[in-house]
Amino acid sequence: MLNVFLKNHNYKYEVGELLKLFTTQFKFVDDDLNKDKILINELIIEDNLIISNTYIYENNNLKIRLEEKDVMSSLDEKILKRESKIVIKRSIFKVLKKIYKSFVPWGILTGIRPTKIVHELLDENKNKEEIDNILKVKYLMDKSKIDLAYNIAKVEREFIYPLNENKIALYVSIPFCPTRCVYCSFPSNTLKQWGHLKSDYLNALIKEIKGVGALIKKLNKEIESVYIGGGTPTTLDEKELDILMDSLYQNFDLNNIKEFTVEAGRPDTITKEKLKVLKYAKVSRISINPQTMNESTLIEIGRSHKVEDIVKCFNMARNLGFDNINMDIILGLLKETPSMVENTLKEISKLSPESLTVHTMAIKRASKLKENIQEYEFSQYMDMVKMIDISMDYAQRMGLNPYYMYRQKHMLGNLENIGYSKRGFECIYNIQIMEEKQSIFALGAGAISKIVYLDENRIERVPNVKNLEHYIKRVDEMIQKKEEEVL
Ligand SMILES: C[S@@+](CC[C@H](N)C(=O)[O-])C[C@H]1O[C@@H](n2cnc3c(N)ncnc32)[C@H](O)[C@@H]1O
Ligand code: SF4
Repeated sequence: MLNVFLKNHNYKYEVGELLKLFTTQFKFVDDDLNKDKILINELIIEDNLIISNTYIYENNNLKIRLEEKDVMSSLDEKILKRESKIVIKRSIFKVLKKIYKSFVPWGILTGIRPTKIVHELLDENKNKEEIDNILKVKYLMDKSKIDLAYNIAKVEREFIYPLNENKIALYVSIPFCPTRCVYCSFPSNTLKQWGHLKSDYLNALIKEIKGVGALIKKLNKEIESVYIGGGTPTTLDEKELDILMDSLYQNFDLNNIKEFTVEAGRPDTITKEKLKVLKYAKVSRISINPQTMNESTLIEIGRSHKVEDIVKCFNMARNLGFDNINMDIILGLLKETPSMVENTLKEISKLSPESLTVHTMAIKRASKLKENIQEYEFSQYMDMVKMIDISMDYAQRMGLNPYYMYRQKHMLGNLENIGYSKRGFECIYNIQIMEEKQSIFALGAGAISKIVYLDENRIERVPNVKNLEHYIKRVDEMIQKKEEEVL
């Protein structure tokens, strides 16, 4: 166990997040007395310098000492705080690298949106060379991740700019699933347990659609993209899907939208009739998600469909004219090895989807996996790194380029999720949700609206209740909360 003592500052959250990239075996202590192994970090502000020293003592013997410093750019308290945290993290990072010898390619960046820093630097008109240097020297990022973040930020900017507060995105949540996959923490009420509430849920959702539809008309906002997710939206039967689509068209002006996504998701919920309803409603992008193309893993993760069902659904959608299909996969599913991931990608290549979203497995608090963690085996960290490399290689061979990205908490190394697409098939909604420059009005149980105030550089979240029964009873309140935020 590594004891950690912070001197002259109390940035426990930031230091804790950094430590978690290397180990979970640490605890913060309030003094440096009588500890077998201790990391001490101190902050000194002197003249115009920010200095951070890190020491490692083992049984009172000094093992490592490292000093990191930077010139402060301003006396403004907020800026000084931000710069101090960077110097502290860099000093601790360099010491941790010596102790653990781990491969931590994102350097001291611990947040879930690493492209944000690139956007900030681009906003300051820095060129590629300057950005590379800052990310390498100040944030200690590996070259491969610097290029990735830079390339993604450049693609994203084509969709984000020019900023326009009048444009919004619309999200609709269908929080039902056929069964619950072991890794998942998304709103997913199984049909077996909660299916009896499906029709009441749809009625409540339509009420919210009407309420928010009126609100958006009043605000005179223009909808740029629509995303129906969940859960699994295709747990609705074709009649219910038709009613939902009808209600959306009646209450929102969808004539000029650039993109309409439905996360069809699980092949065991997709039928020809449902796909026809989506096509008729001008849905332009759907997801058919394998997660893996290995039969044994599908069973282990609790998805009640076979590999051949994925292929069948994909071909059915193609034959019905869907020309923008996304597939989601997860790297590091239970006992999967790099060669199993390669098999998944080989099978997906044969289908040639327009986009592929590659997630790295995260062990989420609200998942079955976390509840029964001792029953499972997991891929090793370096295997995960290999799997990421394999997926990048296959994406390139399939003609897919990275266009959006976020990182996962709750796993060693905080690896990344990357969305790849053919040129012209980037998902605008995914980019907007990551970069937070556009408001999202989100409807349904567990959906979180994000209202962006560009002038004030401020974002307000308006969450709907997660629980189905509460949502059904309190839907008026969900509409009202949004009205209160924006009117
Ligand atoms: C909201 S889920 C819905 C997708 C749809 N219901 C399905 O299962 O096909 C979106 C995606 O998040 C990913 N995901 C869910 N839980 C995850 C986890 N614990 N770690 C990594 N990726 C995860 C999966 O790839 C999934 O397709
Ligand atoms: S991964 Fe999809 S189908 Fe599985 S539980 Fe999560 S939302 Fe439901």
